[in-house]
Amino acid sequence: MINVAFVCLGNICRSPMAELIFLNLIKERGLTSSFRVSSFGTSDCEEGNGIYPPAKKTLIMHGIAGKHVAKQITLADVKNNDYILVMDSSNLLDLLRLTCGGYGGKIYKLCSFTDNPRDVADPWYTRDFEKAFSDIRDGCECFLGYLLKEKPDAFGYDKTH
Ligand code: 4NP
Repeated sequence: MINVAFVCLGNICRSPMAELIFLNLIKERGLTSSFRVSSFGTSDCEEGNGIYPPAKKTLIMHGIAGKHVAKQITLADVKNNDYILVMDSSNLLDLLRLTCGGYGGKIYKLCSFTDNPRDVADPWYTRDFEKAFSDIRDGCECFLGYLLKEKPDAFGYDKTH
């Protein structure tokens, strides 16, 4: 079981989009049972709120549906996950602050797994939810590709098969 948590600032746009996109991806590949997937915000500013409507609409336009209630990440959530995938450098700094610099080995920017490492621009400010979707999907696909290539034991088979 691989425990993956996606993290952004508010947990109403990017990280719930990432959670649902990744859930959809592993479902398509028959890998659902290998994962526990969640998402959090570094802030409590949107705690209790659902997915921001334009983010939800963008997901639906891509055939992805689902619900989420925003919650703030705690140190226990960091400890209880194998991969903490943040959307941008600001999220990374916030998490390093929360963990006092610890757990660095499991905290990554989502798009660091792509050929073009970058931040997922915050659609709260850019209003470009399509671009956020595309960056997040690219990050999720490349992260899954990384796991399948580098951590085959986690899926119950190895590279020689
Ligand atoms: P998210 O977007 O971090 O992708 O969920 C934001 C949501 C709320 C705010 C900023 C970004 N806000 O300032 O309230």
